[in-house]
Amino acid sequence: MIGPKTAKHAVRRTALSHPAIDATHAESAKRKVLSAYDDPGSDEEITRRTFMANCTLALSGVIGLGLAIPIVGSLIPKGNAGGGTWSPLSADEWKKLQAATDTPVKLNFTLKSKDAYLPEETNDQFVWGIKTTEDRMRKARPDLFSEAPKANLPYPVVTLGFAIFSPICPHLGCRYNYDAGSKKFLCPCHGSQYTFEGAHVAGPAPRGLDPLPLREQKGQAEVTWIRYQDSTADRIVVSYTA
Ligand code: FES
Repeated sequence: MIGPKTAKHAVRRTALSHPAIDATHAESAKRKVLSAYDDPGSDEEITRRTFMANCTLALSGVIGLGLAIPIVGSLIPKGNAGGGTWSPLSADEWKKLQAATDTPVKLNFTLKSKDAYLPEETNDQFVWGIKTTEDRMRKARPDLFSEAPKANLPYPVVTLGFAIFSPICPHLGCRYNYDAGSKKFLCPCHGSQYTFEGAHVAGPAPRGLDPLPLREQKGQAEVTWIRYQDSTADRIVVSYTA
């Protein structure tokens, strides 16, 4: 005979093992066991794959940006000196420049150059300096004061009453000299000629001479070397090393 307590348990067991409920439990268990990976092509699997692909793309973007910023940053000229390292002129060379009148002065100095992550290097170099004014340069060299984006220099053309020229001919990179007789800078390689202010007046060079940054720090004059691309009318920075 079944007592009231036993009968209650029997009813509950009977209810739990009803065929409809058993089928629902089996379906639910099956759903739990099957993951998206077990069901390729399902909506869930495709959504998960798309999510993973987007995560990978986003991560690649972050890594790429992290690498790109320092690389691009090293190529952009800075406003203080066009982006290069300042090299001091000796007291004698500075005196020579200060004593200049209507003849350009060849200024020898030790060029300090530092390229990205490489250690600083030094080598002997020279630049040309002239005594001039901004008004005079504006008249003689309108190309240096043009509003065209690529013509603008990120530093003054005239500093302390002087302009400094790179000794590199903008045609194909030879070194030019100053000819006191004709009062012109002459390039021996292909005959390009430039006025006292560096304006191009003859020969195949595509532009005038390239000014370089000059500044005075604690009584010492300093210059920055910039190598511009040859054979183009635009001034495009190639490097800050010789
Ligand atoms: S390199 Fe100076 S004219 Fe050609």
